[in-house]
Amino acid sequence: MNTFYVTTPIYYANSLPHLGHLYTMIVADTISRAKRQRSIDTYFLTGTDEHGINIERAAQKAGRTPKEQADYVVSYYKKMTSEFGLDTAHGGYDIFMRTTEPFHYQGVSELWRRIAKAKTPKGNDAIYKGHYEGWFCAACAEYKTEDEYQKPKNEGDPPTCLIHDTPLDRVSEESYFFRLSDYDEALLSVLEERPDFVRPDYRRNEVASFLRGGLQDLSVSRLKTSVSWGIPVPDDPAHTMYVWFDALTNYITAIGFGNEERQKVVGFDKYWPALHLVGKDILRFHAVYWPAFLLAAGIELPRAIVAHGMWLDPNGRKMSKTLGNTIELDILQKYFSIDSIRYFCLREMVFGQDGRFGYEGLIDRANSDLASGWGNLSSRTLTMIARYCDSRIPSGVIPEDKLLLAKRTGVDTDETTVAGFIELARDQFVHQFDNLAFSKALETAWSVVARVDKMITDAKPWDLAKDENQKQTLGVVLYRAAESLRWLSVLLYPVMPEASRAIWKQLGLDGSPAQIDPTQLKWGELKEGSTIGEVQPVFPRMDKAKIMSEISAPTEPSAVAPGPSEPSAPVVHATQADAVGVTSFIEIDDFAKVDLRVGQVLSAERIPKADKLLLMKVDIGEEQPRQILAGIAQYYEPEKLIGRKVVIVANLKPRKLRGLESQGMVVAASYGEEGRPVIATFTEDVPNGARLK
Ligand code: MSP
Repeated sequence: MNTFYVTTPIYYANSLPHLGHLYTMIVADTISRAKRQRSIDTYFLTGTDEHGINIERAAQKAGRTPKEQADYVVSYYKKMTSEFGLDTAHGGYDIFMRTTEPFHYQGVSELWRRIAKAKTPKGNDAIYKGHYEGWFCAACAEYKTEDEYQKPKNEGDPPTCLIHDTPLDRVSEESYFFRLSDYDEALLSVLEERPDFVRPDYRRNEVASFLRGGLQDLSVSRLKTSVSWGIPVPDDPAHTMYVWFDALTNYITAIGFGNEERQKVVGFDKYWPALHLVGKDILRFHAVYWPAFLLAAGIELPRAIVAHGMWLDPNGRKMSKTLGNTIELDILQKYFSIDSIRYFCLREMVFGQDGRFGYEGLIDRANSDLASGWGNLSSRTLTMIARYCDSRIPSGVIPEDKLLLAKRTGVDTDETTVAGFIELARDQFVHQFDNLAFSKALETAWSVVARVDKMITDAKPWDLAKDENQKQTLGVVLYRAAESLRWLSVLLYPVMPEASRAIWKQLGLDGSPAQIDPTQLKWGELKEGSTIGEVQPVFPRMDKAKIMSEISAPTEPSAVAPGPSEPSAPVVHATQADAVGVTSFIEIDDFAKVDLRVGQVLSAERIPKADKLLLMKVDIGEEQPRQILAGIAQYYEPEKLIGRKVVIVANLKPRKLRGLESQGMVVAASYGEEGRPVIATFTEDVPNGARLK
């Protein structure tokens, strides 16, 4: 059967959710939406890990029972998932799994019993009773070996956890052990036979080298007198199960393992094996302990364990409350659209590696890629269809008798050029998405945005609209742009469900991009003559200076730009000016004569037989972009300039170079003997057309 099962870790119910938790949920949600689009029956699990000493202690501190503590934290998780559109009501998870569910108790007990009866690959009992002597970190819920803790400064003090910097608990008691030491070879063979079992490959290598170092048996129970908040060991209620044994098992109990009712409602046979998404911090539990438990119980191993990196602050430091560099979920919710957060998470983190998260970066991406990118392409296209085509989707075909006429405008009369480009991009996108290379997939989608933007700019629909004979040519350009938007809405739906639906609706389409399989998209299915919806900006621009001044962001103090009302200080004082070699001065009125504007390069290309010149189209906020020639071809690759913000002298008298009119000048520094140009640009986001004063 065509099914898919994706899981996030289940989060500790001792503290409230943060960005890291939100992130893994966003990734799982995106994957499940992409699978559902392709009619794959998908089950998406997230939830909370509610047992163990750490939750017991958090509860005690808060004056609650452990269950009350768990309920309290869960209410925050539920609120977060609803506000961020990740819950069932919004098409997100299928189950918010809680390890305090009675069916989970039943399933975990069943797994324990099975393992307790099993023999290891080396013919020994898989579980045996022994005595544990060692150190335990409550926050990691993990026993620590000598190289995993910091020795105490004063003799007699406990060692501290290298991750949490908190004192470890001494454990010396009777315990059940899982004979993990008998599973190293079996697990190594799994890694060899299934190269995709642990991903990315560098994480698989880490796991393999850990296995090659040999495994120690794992203590899988605590005396109830030490840890009472846990699931009792079957037939020995004096012991509670090790919290990771209990927690990992949630992935199968949630879908019906060990409980007939759940089995009927969901179906273990239907959905198992799962793809487990985890942070790299908990890879060992998922890639070593969990498969060993399953091997022992004779249960099929997971489909894959995929470890992602961690979010760090913009300076590359771990986020922590003490450093004050965490990302607050309520700030995200207040200032940012859900889609822009989802886009940032998937675009910014190269899946597997650590990424940096800051409010500023988020605003920049939202403005450049969404407002100026996809959003602008959409409103530009739809506004022109409204204005020039009476709000109806024009025909995508140029009639035979108009072909020659169309050719004269430079518009490509062969529609397969654009169609071929977007089809190829779609194939790449789907392939990259399937490989969880989200960042690359989004780059691919943005190559379509850039390509279609360039097609519009080159075709100059505003000129075509002036000529009644070019009506069809104009229509074809706008049809291609609109059809590309339809494709983009389908491709980008799993990442940005709301925006995709909005653009879909504005295109006047029925149904939803949620139901369209991107691999089945056919060019030309956008119906000629259909009426478009009301055109509205999907990604309004974010005022960075204003938002940053409102968000108190101690990690990014330098990021706060002066508000527009502050007087602009002179940049260069006379004395300083002398020092840098300026010899004559002008009055401020002289300077005011120069109209400097912020522009954005829409296209740039070399000019045949002119090796110094680049021909650029620059958007300076006017109805049409400016055509500007710049003598920078020896120093800049034209492709790299596209999208870049530049400074344009907008009131320079147009002049002709090589027969082409240059309608302005790009400002650049010039240095060295050869006068090497370095284009002036902005490090902060600024709208096209803004005046420099
Ligand atoms: N309860 C265990 C998991 C049991 S799974 C059977 C646990 N819980 S946790 O609350 O600590 O969550 C850890 C997970 O949260 C990480 O593996 C990761 O998915 C996510 N993240 C926590 N901090 C993160 C970042 N800073 N960045 C990205 N993800 C992070 O471990």
